[in-house]
Amino acid sequence: LFAGGAEFLKGVVAMSGLPPADRIEICFAGRSNVGKSSLINALTGRKGLARASNTPGRTQEINFFTVGPEHYLVDLPGYGYANAPLAKVEKWQRLLKQYLSGRPSLRRAFVLIDARHGIKPVDEEIMALLDSAAVTFQGVLTKADKVKAQDRDRVLAQVREKLSTHPAAFPELVLTSSEKGDGIETLRAIIAGLV
Ligand code: GTP
Ligand code: MG
Repeated sequence: LFAGGAEFLKGVVAMSGLPPADRIEICFAGRSNVGKSSLINALTGRKGLARASNTPGRTQEINFFTVGPEHYLVDLPGYGYANAPLAKVEKWQRLLKQYLSGRPSLRRAFVLIDARHGIKPVDEEIMALLDSAAVTFQGVLTKADKVKAQDRDRVLAQVREKLSTHPAAFPELVLTSSEKGDGIETLRAIIAGLV
């Protein structure tokens, strides 16, 4: 699926701007700065396809990328703290929630969690939203290269425990590093399996 490359389609700022729901959609959700855009770049093998930066709140639109003939990868704005004007943040948070709970072609959400920090209350809010919308989601730990082994095991246990309370969550967790490539092939295979 990923061999053919990926292309940016469009950035969306309102539900009315969404492309037709005619492809399988996989979205990347998570707190600001968790590594959503970087993960899309690692998966597609195109550095700079999705804009990443060290400033939380970098992605402010819902960005659609085509991969293969029938999939969209969807890069979402982050939730939680963002380094951007409040009115703007509130606008994109509203859009994010509308998208996550009202998109018929949304097939799977990856909920990204920093492998150093684990699940925070804002993550739980989003997971509860996905539960009510019956959007199946999968936890993906990011920045594996930055976590020490003993912290990683503690975080893994916390994340597994929390995910088990969410009916829409898959039990399997994927540990990734966009920097080092850990977990990237695993995620590609999961995405390619969604047909
Ligand atoms: P927003 O769009 O602001 O919500 O952030 P995002 O979730 O898209 O994060 P982004 O991909 O922009 O990455 C945030 C920062 O984390 C950047 O400085 C990345 O280089 C860094 N980063 C992302 N993934 C990894 C990783 O696997 N390892 C390391 N070491 N750094 C990473
Ligand atoms: Mg981003």
